Amino acid sequence: MKKIAVLAGDGVGPEVTSEAVKVLQAIDKKHAIGFAFEHELIGACAIEATGNPLPAATVERCQNSDAVILGAVGHPRFDSDPTAKVRPEQGLLGIRKALGLYANIRPIKSYKTLYSVSPLKESLVAGVDFVVFRELTGGIYFGEKGRRNGGSEAFDLCTYSVEEVERIAQLALAAAQSRRKHLTLVDKANVLETSRLWRDTISKISSNFPNIYVDYMFVDNAAMKIVQQPAFFDVILTENMFGDILTDEASAITGSIGMLPSSSVGSKVALFEPIHGSFPEGAGKGIANPMAAILSAAMMLEHFGYLEAAQEVQAAVELALRNGVATGEINKDKPASTSEVGDFIASNI
Ligand code: IPM
Ligand code: MG
Repeated sequence: MKKIAVLAGDGVGPEVTSEAVKVLQAIDKKHAIGFAFEHELIGACAIEATGNPLPAATVERCQNSDAVILGAVGHPRFDSDPTAKVRPEQGLLGIRKALGLYANIRPIKSYKTLYSVSPLKESLVAGVDFVVFRELTGGIYFGEKGRRNGGSEAFDLCTYSVEEVERIAQLALAAAQSRRKHLTLVDKANVLETSRLWRDTISKISSNFPNIYVDYMFVDNAAMKIVQQPAFFDVILTENMFGDILTDEASAITGSIGMLPSSSVGSKVALFEPIHGSFPEGAGKGIANPMAAILSAAMMLEHFGYLEAAQEVQAAVELALRNGVATGEINKDKPASTSEVGDFIASNI
């Protein structure tokens, strides 16, 4: 039996998450894993219902589950209100921190059937397969922040400790070991002291992995390289905000941000979520691509060690793409709805 906490969240979160659950139920039917799904609130919908973007019941449920699947959080009502005291995003940052999810793993893979959807040339996109290890519970996201001088000045502090860098570096190096043995640390060590700590730490640890080629790249240069020569990368290791920005950029390689899954790991309970946001303009219309959420569920299966089941989900997603069963940003001529995509994938498990 596996207890799965489902935090569908806001915007298109509930729609894509229910397709992921649908696919997991199909897997369950076939492999008799015994999934039990339990829903809790997070984000704007939680603020609406309880005043708190991360109710205690949600944290408790997650801590007592085997894994968490999450949709998205965010609402335009808060984006355009700089004075808002509580924000949906606090729910997401809060659950990452509460569960100790310090490593966010975001695989970037191009699909043959999507080469023509990518804004990049096919010759650049072909064969791209890299993974970003984004630090998730430190840096500028979690440093002290505030106003001073009567509110006319604001600050967000970026801090990292050696331990915080080491623990994610170990995971990224282990991943590189089982891949093409190339790790790129992305930083801004020409300007930032935290980046120099990252470099220092990585160069020490990586000496224990003599067969891994480690290189260092400034984040501005990496942003260029991701569109100029994406096939250069194997494993990218980077801090929280650089990882946030670079993975949205990298999603353009696949052609749709609706294709990118992620897993967040750290201590006991892992969390799986698409990298896209709540896409409020698309909410309730059945136009959001559920594949990122479904592929995140596949990452959960992999995390549990159900490798065959994970592969079945990936294969069913690829089959959907090959058959043109995809939402409008991919299949412009004959778009399928969110639930049609989920139905097709689930029925091919
Ligand atoms: C992501 C998102 C979040 C982040 C937001 C919603 C707080 O952009 O998961 O990439 O910045 O981490
Ligand atoms: Mg982001």
